[in-house]
Amino acid sequence: MYTAADNRYTSMRYNRSGKSGLLLPAISLGLWHNFGNADQYDNMKAIILSAFDRGITHFDLANNYGPPGGEAERNFGKMLKEALKPYRDEMIISTKAGYYMWPGPYGEWGSRKNLLASCDQSLKRMGLDYVDIFYSHRPDPHTPVEETMQALDSIVRSGKALYAGISNYSAEQTRKAAAVLKQLGTPCLIHQPRYSMLDRWVEAPGTADGKSLLDVVEEEGMGSIVFSPLAQGRLSDKYINGVPADSRIGRSLPNGAIQEKDLNEALLSNIRQLNALALNRGQTLAQMAIAWLLKDQRVTSVLVGASSIGQLENSIDALKAPAFGVDELQQIEQILSQ
Ligand SMILES: NC(=O)c1ccc[n+]([C@@H]2O[C@H](COP(=O)([O-])OP(=O)(O)OC[C@H]3O[C@@H](n4cnc5c(N)ncnc54)[C@H](OP(=O)(O)O)[C@@H]3O)[C@@H](O)[C@H]2O)c1
Repeated sequence: MYTAADNRYTSMRYNRSGKSGLLLPAISLGLWHNFGNADQYDNMKAIILSAFDRGITHFDLANNYGPPGGEAERNFGKMLKEALKPYRDEMIISTKAGYYMWPGPYGEWGSRKNLLASCDQSLKRMGLDYVDIFYSHRPDPHTPVEETMQALDSIVRSGKALYAGISNYSAEQTRKAAAVLKQLGTPCLIHQPRYSMLDRWVEAPGTADGKSLLDVVEEEGMGSIVFSPLAQGRLSDKYINGVPADSRIGRSLPNGAIQEKDLNEALLSNIRQLNALALNRGQTLAQMAIAWLLKDQRVTSVLVGASSIGQLENSIDALKAPAFGVDELQQIEQILSQ
């Protein structure tokens, strides 16, 4: 029988999500990969429990995580039942709908039909009465944003989620979605964009008045939880000397996972230089990549993945990092601009 560590709240940092009342851990754990039916259940359960023992209260899922889709929610539901149910009120569990989940015209995108049906399916798979955050996983160019936001509002009002979120919306789409949700009386809690040293689109001007996604998130009083902070493992020392067979690239995973083509000599050269800089700071590259994201106050939480407890612990220790000096930040910029 699992008993959570007594000292679980002593070292994690908690940040407020925008102007809401909700505090999220500076590091959250996602179940996109490593929690499907090709993965060892005992290992994934050990990762989740170890995360909770280290103060990670937030676990991020989506209907389609696995593979196959639904499997990560099913596995997580099993862990809740076996170990974590007594701690439900200490946990923030999120899920999403928007990517392909079931055949036919209602199994993906942003219609009310898709979101409401998918939310019910997710709750059933996890054995939950409600999730804490329900997201529209991606903007839908063919559904009015009003319909998608009304669906989120309905899900919150029905008690099936406590908060609404959006993911992968551009700066302009975020403004519009936030305005609709505000009008409906269900403010948008959080945006979940991809953001790492290797993918900085959230910093670039994206609206007619030149605001970036991070600017808009702040303006709207929303938080942000940034995904793939390690660029799926490339921002670590893992690939410096080749592709390990048990790595994400080595395993040739489906559904948007990085592949061999996502590594090249120029990138590896930058990674080697960043790695040297991190070691100089007394950190691993993974830790430096996470600390670099958290230096921006607009980043509420960094959403990591992990395939082992060792990786997770290494990532959490990013919080022990010394603050960046101006010269270090300049060196990082210089390496990234090569
Ligand atoms: N909203 C969206 O559209 C969206 C899209 C993608 C992801 N997400 C969310 O973001 C979460 C994280 O995404 P991600 O898995 O791509 O994040 P990531 O943290 O960039 O990559 C995780 C992978 O990096 C490696 N790794 C992790 N910690 C490490 C460490 N300390 N040292 C060395 N290597 C380490 C592991 O790779 P190996 O497996 O090779 O060991 C791990 O599987 C997902 O689970 C999901 O919740 C959301």
